[in-house]
Amino acid sequence: MTINDNSRTPVRVLMVCLGNICRSPTAEAVFRQRVEQKGLSDHIEVDSAGTSDWHVGEPPDRRSINAGRQRKYDLSPLRARQATAADFHRFDYVLAMDHANMRDLLAICPPGHENRLSLFLSHGSDATEEVPDPYHAGQEGFETVLDLIEDACDNLIDRIIAERPPA
Ligand code: 4NP
Repeated sequence: MTINDNSRTPVRVLMVCLGNICRSPTAEAVFRQRVEQKGLSDHIEVDSAGTSDWHVGEPPDRRSINAGRQRKYDLSPLRARQATAADFHRFDYVLAMDHANMRDLLAICPPGHENRLSLFLSHGSDATEEVPDPYHAGQEGFETVLDLIEDACDNLIDRIIAERPPA
């Protein structure tokens, strides 16, 4: 018989935006780097997805890759996928970049799993609620995305560790 030790099951975090080519892959790369820096890679896993299927299979937007690279994040291996209802079974934290993403995720969320869903920035330290969609913005929009995401990631990791401490 095996021991049922839930503390050894990794905590799984899913970053979600509309296209999965700008905001959520940026959040995935920044969050993963912070998790690695803190030596928590065995305890916390991260992935990202889009609410739409518009860019499935594509790499992140070139502007996101370039903005990330300037700050030493490598987004280039990532490929877009669409969020599914099954993600609510697999992921403990499903984090929406904006309110529209929240609504679209609620529409596919299996009953009883709504408590896994929250706004990504609700775990940050200031009152900003949404990571603005940079797709139709200029380069400064991509810098704002990185600034907001970098600010929120440490708080988010602290929150996860408080709620789900490593074994
Ligand atoms: P994301 O940005 O949701 O941060 O990946 C977008 C990417 C693509 C589109 C919109 C937003 N689009 O209209 O194709």
